[in-house]
Amino acid sequence: MKMHFPVVTWMLLVSPLAGAMEIKVPDDPVVAVFGHDATLCCSFSDANFSLADLSLIWQLTDTKRPVHEFAEGRDQLDNQERSYANRTALFYDQLPRGNVSLLLRRVQIADEGSFTCFVRVRDYSSAAVKLQVAALYSKPNLSLEPNKNLKPGDLVTVTCHAFSGYPEATVLWQDGRGNNLTENITTSQVANEEGLFDVHSILRVVLEPHSTYSCLVKNPLLEQETHTSITITGQHLVFPAVALWVSVGLAVCLLVLLGALAYVCQKKIRQSCKEEKQKAEELEDGEGPKTALQPLKNMDIKEDIGEEID
Ligand SMILES: *[C@@H]1O[C@H](CO)[C@@H](O)[C@H](O)[C@H]1NC(C)=O
Ligand SMILES: *[C@@H]1O[C@H](CO)[C@@H](O)[C@H](O)[C@H]1NC(C)=O
Ligand SMILES: *[C@@H]1O[C@H](CO)[C@@H](O)[C@H](O)[C@H]1NC(C)=O
Ligand SMILES: *[C@@H]1O[C@H](CO)[C@@H](O)[C@H](O)[C@H]1NC(C)=O
Ligand SMILES: *[C@@H]1O[C@H](CO)[C@@H](O)[C@H](O)[C@H]1NC(C)=O
Repeated sequence: MKMHFPVVTWMLLVSPLAGAMEIKVPDDPVVAVFGHDATLCCSFSDANFSLADLSLIWQLTDTKRPVHEFAEGRDQLDNQERSYANRTALFYDQLPRGNVSLLLRRVQIADEGSFTCFVRVRDYSSAAVKLQVAALYSKPNLSLEPNKNLKPGDLVTVTCHAFSGYPEATVLWQDGRGNNLTENITTSQVANEEGLFDVHSILRVVLEPHSTYSCLVKNPLLEQETHTSITITGQHLVFPAVALWVSVGLAVCLLVLLGALAYVCQKKIRQSCKEEKQKAEELEDGEGPKTALQPLKNMDIKEDIGEEID
């Protein structure tokens, strides 16, 4: 069925004439969160009409592709743009009041843009609604390279990684006192297959004792700010778990080895020189295993994660 035909026809024939009907749309762009539903508001003042007389078309302003059509008292979706299939609806109970707002489900980045609402009852009119899509950035991950045996004066690379936000983020680096770091920063933002941005920011610094580096990722549209800090102190010497177990393992091996040696020695001594038996036993007693556990010098790394949304 080609029920959309009358709608297209009246648009082509009468649009240039501009009707007297008053149509209302929001002045400001509608901000929709990626993956959530959005309502594109559009309403008109003429409240005295029969639904059968209402023709409505929502279309993309640029390409004029139909997003949702309604005519002769029902939806006309044969001609609908494919990417909007199953994602649109009207507020049907509100239609008699002249509310022809469009519900758009599961908003995608590609939906961003302008939508035109064309209405005809007796008069006709149209207006455009802008849609902006936004997505919150994940809390940034921070990584340090190199991350072992750090000494003040070392050149380190701090990498900040935040995922899946939109639109592009503003990235700031700050020190422990909240001063902006501006030198030796490289930031890149790459869109994934959904159009969301992954942010990588790299800070290269000469390490100072007790230093804190914070990466702040801001979403300019949602006024979201999320940050992660890394604090490097030289005070705390950490004995890493792996090194501990290796040392314990070695100590046990050494003990067993010494024990075996002592046993063999004792036997030999007993056999060959029985008169020196007393001496040999004294020797054995004095021969304990001694392993000095040497703590590995390491810098203590603390991470502090914070998120604020205004
Ligand atoms: C509504 O429209 C009908 C016919 O279209 C008309 O007879 C009636 O007077 C109108 N009512 C008002 C309140 O405008
Ligand atoms: C829309 O929904 C119908 C019925 O659930 C389904 O057959 C069709 O494949 C869906 N279309 C798209 C584009 O998802
Ligand atoms: C139209 O209906 C939608 C959905 O219920 C609502 O959000 C919007 O405020 C309504 N607009 C008017 C002008 O009543
Ligand atoms: C850091 O830079 C941002 C943006 O450039 C600015 O808004 C902010 O005021 C600066 N903060 C300080 C402490 O300089
Ligand atoms: C920036 O990097 C260069 C070499 O990569 C280094 O010499 C310089 O000290 C760095 N500047 C700062 C402020 O860390």
